[in-house]
Amino acid sequence: LFSAVEMAPRDPILGLNEQYNADTNPNKVNLGVGVYFDDNGKLPLLQCVQAAEKTMMDKPAARGYLPIDGLAAYDNAVKALVFGADSAVVQDGRVATVQALGGTGGLKIGADFLKKLNPNAKVLISDPSWENHRALFTNAGFTVETYAYYDADKLGVNFDGMLASLNAAEAGTVIVLHACCHNPTGYDITPEQWDKVVEVVKAKGLVAFLDMAYQGFGHGIAEDGAVIGKFVAAGLNFFVSTSFSKSFSLYGERVGALSVVCESKEEAARVLSQLKIVVRTNYSNPPTHGGTVVATVLNNPELRAQWEQELGEMRTRIKAMRQALVDGLKAAGVQRDMSFITKQIGMFSYSGLSKDQMVRLRNEFGVYGTDTGRMCVAALNSKNIGYVCESIAKVL
Ligand code: LMR
Repeated sequence: LFSAVEMAPRDPILGLNEQYNADTNPNKVNLGVGVYFDDNGKLPLLQCVQAAEKTMMDKPAARGYLPIDGLAAYDNAVKALVFGADSAVVQDGRVATVQALGGTGGLKIGADFLKKLNPNAKVLISDPSWENHRALFTNAGFTVETYAYYDADKLGVNFDGMLASLNAAEAGTVIVLHACCHNPTGYDITPEQWDKVVEVVKAKGLVAFLDMAYQGFGHGIAEDGAVIGKFVAAGLNFFVSTSFSKSFSLYGERVGALSVVCESKEEAARVLSQLKIVVRTNYSNPPTHGGTVVATVLNNPELRAQWEQELGEMRTRIKAMRQALVDGLKAAGVQRDMSFITKQIGMFSYSGLSKDQMVRLRNEFGVYGTDTGRMCVAALNSKNIGYVCESIAKVL
């Protein structure tokens, strides 16, 4: 039965974990996957999560099936966080939200729904984009192409190119946009540039699909989420996938969501009914634990304040690591101006290193980043940064 099955390549991001785990180099550093580690190199278990879990343990609950669209308290907390509790679209019942298996799960529910709705639409992702965007939308049956984004010479966004790509797209094309902390480049567009993107999306009848996996890792929770308000204010119908993997350090719980902004309450009910079919026919309904933890934190003012503080600490430490990386590379003898690293935002730095240099970093020094030159600066710490800088200096 399986004799013709070919060996698939390793996943370009998660596959690195497998290689890293098998590496016996005692100095190895994993800057491959987008995961935040604290200054001791430990994956944090947030205090707010521990407090929420304690309240859950104090009153242990049986584990029945959740509704297909997830825990209502969770879905409502997601809506309030993403759109604002007083937002008219939420108040008017125009947002259909389903709990999803992480941000990836939210993207896939949206992709499957869109494929049924508009099977011939094309999907455009940024050039470059998160490695899994192309694979995910391709596996959902779409033809995936790119819109211009990164400008290697300018070390920033080729915004004119981006607008030109969007202007050239046919009506109905699905545009996957990174709401904040662009993955992999770390370069975001400005609020004024977002206004222009919203204008083109509206004028051309494009379908915006915002991927917001890093809310709170850029400038702040509200600041990073502000782009959502721009699409709402323009009266657009659009998709938002969100994730608490990073912001709650709940990677393994797979807690995310898909929200779809609709024209009316009645339309949102119809859309929700279709999203539920996608969920039901894929995995029936979501798990209870992660959603309950997040809902408990977001719906309790004290725990919520604690979460905001802990997320702020992660954000601040990443910024400090960016500066330490720039300083460390200089101290290690790198001639090239690497100060662009502090202009990038979020968990990643697009380092400008070639595939060969990244492979050398991995094979000779045990420093893991993706082949595209992406490094997770959120995994740097005061102990490994010196070694990382020396290793980069050697391959440069
Ligand atoms: C990443 O880009 O490293 C993260 O989003 C994790 C993943 O699933 O790829």
